[in-house]
Order: sequence, then C-alpha cells, then structure tokens
Amino acid sequence: MTVAIRSRVTGVGGFVPPRIVTNDDLAELMDTSDEWIVERTGIRRRHWVDPETSTSDLALEAANAALISASVDKEDIDMLIVATLSSDHFFPGTACFLQTKMGISEIPALDIRQQCTGFIYATSIADQFIRTGMYQKVLVIGAEIHSKGLDISTEGRDVTILFGDGAGAVVLESTEVDTAEDPQILSTHLHADGSGATDLWLPSPGMAFPDGLVTHEHLDRGDQYPQMNGRAVYVNAVKRMSEGIQDALATNEVSLDDVDLFFFHQANLRINEAVAQRLGIPPEKVYNTIHKYGNTTAATIPLGMRDAVDDGTLQPGMLVACGAFGSGFTWGSMLIRW
Ligand code: UT7
Repeated sequence: MTVAIRSRVTGVGGFVPPRIVTNDDLAELMDTSDEWIVERTGIRRRHWVDPETSTSDLALEAANAALISASVDKEDIDMLIVATLSSDHFFPGTACFLQTKMGISEIPALDIRQQCTGFIYATSIADQFIRTGMYQKVLVIGAEIHSKGLDISTEGRDVTILFGDGAGAVVLESTEVDTAEDPQILSTHLHADGSGATDLWLPSPGMAFPDGLVTHEHLDRGDQYPQMNGRAVYVNAVKRMSEGIQDALATNEVSLDDVDLFFFHQANLRINEAVAQRLGIPPEKVYNTIHKYGNTTAATIPLGMRDAVDDGTLQPGMLVACGAFGSGFTWGSMLIRW
C-alpha cells in the first residue's frame, strides 16, 4: 500500500437515558413475560426516555462524549451525519436540530434513514467524503427514541419488547496510511432490497396514502406503529449479515481468524448466535449489548463500541468487523483497523 488518505475513528461516545424498563415492567403493560422475552430475544432490559427528551437531545449527549473522547473541538467538525428512523419531526432532519443544539452552524447536516443499517451507511458516507479529501473531520451519530412510538399493548408486543432508546457517536478523522495495519476504515459495503420494505415498516404518516399524510383512519388502524413480519426479518438478517461479513473479509483478503472483535447489529441475540455459528465465529469474539439496551437501531453499533472501549475489550490495533441488517431491507458491513 502506498501512502493514501483514509478515515479513522478517533473518538466514540454514547448515551442512554437513565430510566430502565425491565421485562417485568413490560409484563405489567401487556401480556408478555420475562421468560418469553429472554428466551426468544436475549433482552433483559432497555432504556426509555422521559417525555421531554427528543432524539436530537440523545444525539447531543453522544456527540459531545465522542468529541471529548477524540479531543476534537466542535468548531473543527466539517460535517454532521445523523442516522435515525425516529427523527424529531417529519422534516427538517434531526441533524439540523442537533447542529443548533451543539451551537455550530453552516457545516452540512445530513440525515440518513437506513434504520438498523443506518450507522454503517452514515459511516460509509463520511468515509467517502474524507477519502476524497473534501472533509477532514466528520461526526457520525446514531440516535433513536423508540419508546414514544411503540404500541404499548398486547397487540404490539412482538415489536414493542424488542426496542430501546439511546445514541452512539464516532468522530472520523482524515489520516495518511502506509499499510493496512495503520488505524483506518478499511472498507464499507452497502446493500438494500426494497422488496422487503413492508416486512418492517411504519406506514403513517406517509405521502403514499391517497387520503392524506395522517388521518383518523390511519390512527384507528394503528398505522402509526411499526409493523413487522418477524420471521422474514429474522431469516433475512441471518443470511445478509453473514454475507456482509464474508464480503468485508474477502475484499480485504483477511480470514475470520484475523478479526479480533465483531459488532453485529443487536436485534435479537439468537440472530447473532446464528450468524456466528454459520460463519464459525467463537462467541467470545462477538460483542453483544442486547441484554441491556434491546434494539437501539442506528445507535446500536456505536453504543457497543463505546462500551467496548470503556470496559477495555476494544483496544488499539484490533481488526474489527461490523455487520447490520434492518428495515428496507438494508444491510451492510465494514472492516476497521481500530
Ligand atoms: O433490526 C430488525 C428488527 N427486528 C428483528 O430483527 C426481529 C426479527 N424477528 C425476531 O426477533 C422474532 O421473530 C421475534 C422475537 C419478533 C418473535 O419470535 P418468534 O420465535 O419468531 O415468535 P413468533 O412470532 O413465531 O411468535 C410465537 C408466539 C405467538 O403466539 P402463538 O401464535 O404461537 O400462540 C406470538 O403471539 O409468541 C407470541 N408472542 C409473544 N408472547 C409473549 C409474540 N410476541 C410475544 C411477546 N410475549 N412479546
């Protein structure tokens, strides 16, 4: 490898709201049980926001923590990218609200709507801007509030038990690399298959409705709640996350054994166990957080990275593989030399 411009992760940050909601708490609100949830998903608890908190508030906490971790001043950031499916408002994007809360202006502020794959899409976009030399420092944030938008009743239990609120962020900075051993994002791989769009979606509000963006009929039908074909999502998640990891390894001519740590999207512990089993990854190399956060969609991977840095699991020089799958369907992977 000759000298090349790449991006590298120089800081990570994360935030979950203080309120913890256990499976037993949910069982008081709907017909479910700790036993069912743990056995089917591995989730034991999740965090929910208080009523006053917005997605950009969570993003702000994670962003500030990532800036401190990178020792980068907010004024030096060239671009903000927020990945979220739970934006503060229908428009404008959450990145614009975040930008004002951060007290910085005029830099581009971009929202990415790729659901559980959002962080990988957002990182890939940031990486392209840095590789071309257009920007030197990009702040990438995944932030989600699910709790305010779920059907908290027995009717919505299959979806509601899965999701939690939180935010994670990374600072990506331009770096000159000589070899693949230098810290950098080695490659990113993005995919989508829109034929699965309605297997996991939130129909309303939406411009596709002939009768308007949101109507009483939509609300009576429950179109404002996420709807999921759990089995289809499960099967595709196992298949596509496995393919994504294999893609990333093949592109970089490395083997599974070369990878030190895997960050999979956290939707269901069984999905990640199935991916690890299919590929032959030892369980101790997979960093799971689902038991304590549930599925935090675009926030999941950076939040996991934050925890892994904090507890000493993620160390400089490690080869890290990330894979995600979600609504869209969208999926993606990336390989990082930490
Ligand atoms: O990032 C993408 C996000 N989503 C996912 O990745 C989800 C992927 N899918 C899954 O994780 C699983 O499909 C679920 C965890 C959602 C469901 O697990 P499952 O093993 O596929 O269960 P199921 O949907 O086949 O339901 C089995 C039973 C049903 O009852 P009957 O029809 O057998 O009487 C459900 O009504 O479990 C019932 N059930 C529940 N029971 C207690 C569904 N949700 C619940 C619940 N508590 N929360």
